[in-house]
Amino acid sequence: MSAKDLATILHPAIAAFYVFPLIGIAVYYAWQTRQRRLQAQADGKSKIPPVVGSEHLKLGKWLSASVVGIALLGMAQPIVKKLIFDSQNWAANSTRFFLILLFFVATIASLVMLYRARTPLWRAVFATLCGMGVIIIGFQKFQAGDGNLYPLVFRRDYEWYVSHFYFGMGATMLMIFSLATIPDIYKDRSNGWRKAHALLNCVALLFFIFQGITGARDLIEIPPSWQQPYVEQLYINNCQAQPCQVTPAAPSPAP
Ligand code: HEM
Ligand code: HEM
Repeated sequence: MSAKDLATILHPAIAAFYVFPLIGIAVYYAWQTRQRRLQAQADGKSKIPPVVGSEHLKLGKWLSASVVGIALLGMAQPIVKKLIFDSQNWAANSTRFFLILLFFVATIASLVMLYRARTPLWRAVFATLCGMGVIIIGFQKFQAGDGNLYPLVFRRDYEWYVSHFYFGMGATMLMIFSLATIPDIYKDRSNGWRKAHALLNCVALLFFIFQGITGARDLIEIPPSWQQPYVEQLYINNCQAQPCQVTPAAPSPAP
């Protein structure tokens, strides 16, 4: 397997063996937390142990960082592939690459600071910075050989409603928001923040399921590097809509 192919499977692999199991465990404890609270409210007692709330919080904190991390990795892959592996793009985009790298560092630093922030103001500041960093990276462009600017990260704008990018951004924003509002959930005696949190994260859960589906679809759409020149011809010749042939003597993939 080529380095480029390995780079393609890194993000889906980590999502499958690490992030999704973590989502499962966090959601299990979320359900237990809610059941325990409702049972205690109704009968004054519950058989569910009280630690489920803090276990959910502990896993939720891991989950937030993991989702931001997996989204950054998902975006780093096409950036590295287009700017470094496709070496003909390097000269025109090297400054751009280092600026984007700086954004990665700033976004991760804001996430770290968000974990440390205590006051509502700083939590809001670092959550906004972290969210903005992720979005700004997602919308970066690069200059191709023809001199035009093209998106670095594939966003599927023409079919945004089944886009792995937009729903991934949505899930990431919801995780950052959850992290920033932890103290509000505990402080609010009327349970307003708690209900808002549960509702928003049910949406996040739907987004995660959607990510599993669209991510698997994207994985079968991205060809291994030795097939890439042939598959590109299928797109160029519009073979989805009409019968056509690809030439066996396709140019070999860029190293
Ligand atoms: C898919 C992700 C998530 C889902 C579905 C979810 C859902 C829930 C639900 C249903 C509750 C219980 C609400 C109730 O008592 O009625 C809860 C509580 C809570 N969640 Fe989440 N949550 C998720 C992720 C997170 C994350 C990422 C964090 C923080 C980083 C977090 C922090 C909390 C906290 C602090 C509580 C209160 C726990 C307690 O009572 O001790 N959750 N969540
Ligand atoms: C928490 C879940 C996930 C999040 C937040 C997430 C986020 C992202 C983001 C933001 C991108 C860059 C935009 C794009 O190319 O569409 C991306 C790329 C990608 N994701 Fe995910 N993803 C998740 C799970 C998955 C899963 C489960 C799979 C596959 C089984 C997957 C497969 C892919 C593929 C194939 C790419 C393209 C990577 C490349 O161009 O090298 N993702 N992901």
